[in-house]
Amino acid sequence: MRYSRIIGLGHHVPDKVITNDYLSTVMDTNDAWIVERTGIHERRWVDPAQDTVANMAAKATRMALERARLKETDIDFIVFATITPDYFFPGSGVLLQRELGLDGSIAALDIRNACSGFIYAVSIADQFIKTGMYKNVLVVGAEIQSTALDISTRGRNTAVIFGDGAGAVILQASDKPGVLSTHLHSDGRFAEELYIKDPGSSRPHSERQPDQILDTTTYKVVMNGNQVFKHAVVRFMEVIQEALDANKLRKEDINLLVPHQANLRISQYIQEKLALSDAQVYNNIMRYGNTTAASIPIALSEAWAEGKIKENDLICLAAFGSGFTWASALIRW
Ligand SMILES: CC(C)(COP(=O)(O)OP(=O)(O)OC[C@H]1O[C@@H](n2cnc3c(N)ncnc32)[C@H](O)[C@@H]1OP(=O)(O)O)[C@@H](O)C(=O)NCCC(=O)NCCS
Repeated sequence: MRYSRIIGLGHHVPDKVITNDYLSTVMDTNDAWIVERTGIHERRWVDPAQDTVANMAAKATRMALERARLKETDIDFIVFATITPDYFFPGSGVLLQRELGLDGSIAALDIRNACSGFIYAVSIADQFIKTGMYKNVLVVGAEIQSTALDISTRGRNTAVIFGDGAGAVILQASDKPGVLSTHLHSDGRFAEELYIKDPGSSRPHSERQPDQILDTTTYKVVMNGNQVFKHAVVRFMEVIQEALDANKLRKEDINLLVPHQANLRISQYIQEKLALSDAQVYNNIMRYGNTTAASIPIALSEAWAEGKIKENDLICLAAFGSGFTWASALIRW
């Protein structure tokens, strides 16, 4: 039997630290509100003069390659999860390929499944490895959210939550498990509960490309936080249970749960429902905010570097986000 195993992890976050106190100088908010509602103390936002989605992804990739003792040319396929690509098209996969100095011999695929994007990407990489098509697949989640936030009191319900960053893993073919299973779901009835409308293609030319864009609100993140929260806590639990059932495992078997860093209160709710200890759940939202598709690979990379993931451990990944989409993966390390 052919499996895929994670053999290298890396991450990169921008240098610029945005504290809650800084945000309270540019909008009507305060540290106590943000910490109580989200658990976030600070996040990183890019410097548009130097950071791009692709170059942050390249830095995360180089760390993952070094830890895997591989070089760029060992990569057979790139799967890139982002909803904030550098260009409207082409996607960020090819830009990363260029940053890594790889020529046209490998393919690059883009995934647009928001906060669930990284697990969707791992699932796709896993299928390509299992079928024997590829041996080393680079899976990346990278986002620049800060440039689409309404950084004013009007946009404070999202501006305080989202951050920028990149994470990467190398999945390699092995005869030992690896990724045990992945579970993917979506429900488009809730698409507009968390979305950015423009630049959408289905509107008349005059609306899509006004001569002077006076109202830029349709280019900003819109979120119905309450709805997102209510759905997230239910779906997270369902999709984790689905993964455990599929592998005839119990919640007690999980050594480390690495949830998408949506909101610390969501992670704490899941932790309580699953009766997991603090040591069994990894959170770093306090330092990075919600980095969408980048959040799980950044957290995995940090957890691994801190020695929290050991050989043979059972690692559970779970995510929920825009779409709505939700997903889980169980990994035997
Ligand atoms: C966004 C979220 C933190 C808001 O918390 P909440 O308790 O639902 O708060 P509400 O939206 O009901 O707002 C409560 C009040 O705080 C205000 N408020 C909103 N954002 C604020 C901010 N940053 N600072 C201060 N006050 C704020 C609201 O205007 C509202 O005021 P009102 O009562 O006078 O109308 C919460 O809904 C949430 O975490 N949702 C899930 C978000 C998420 O995980 N998104 C990513 C999914 S991948």
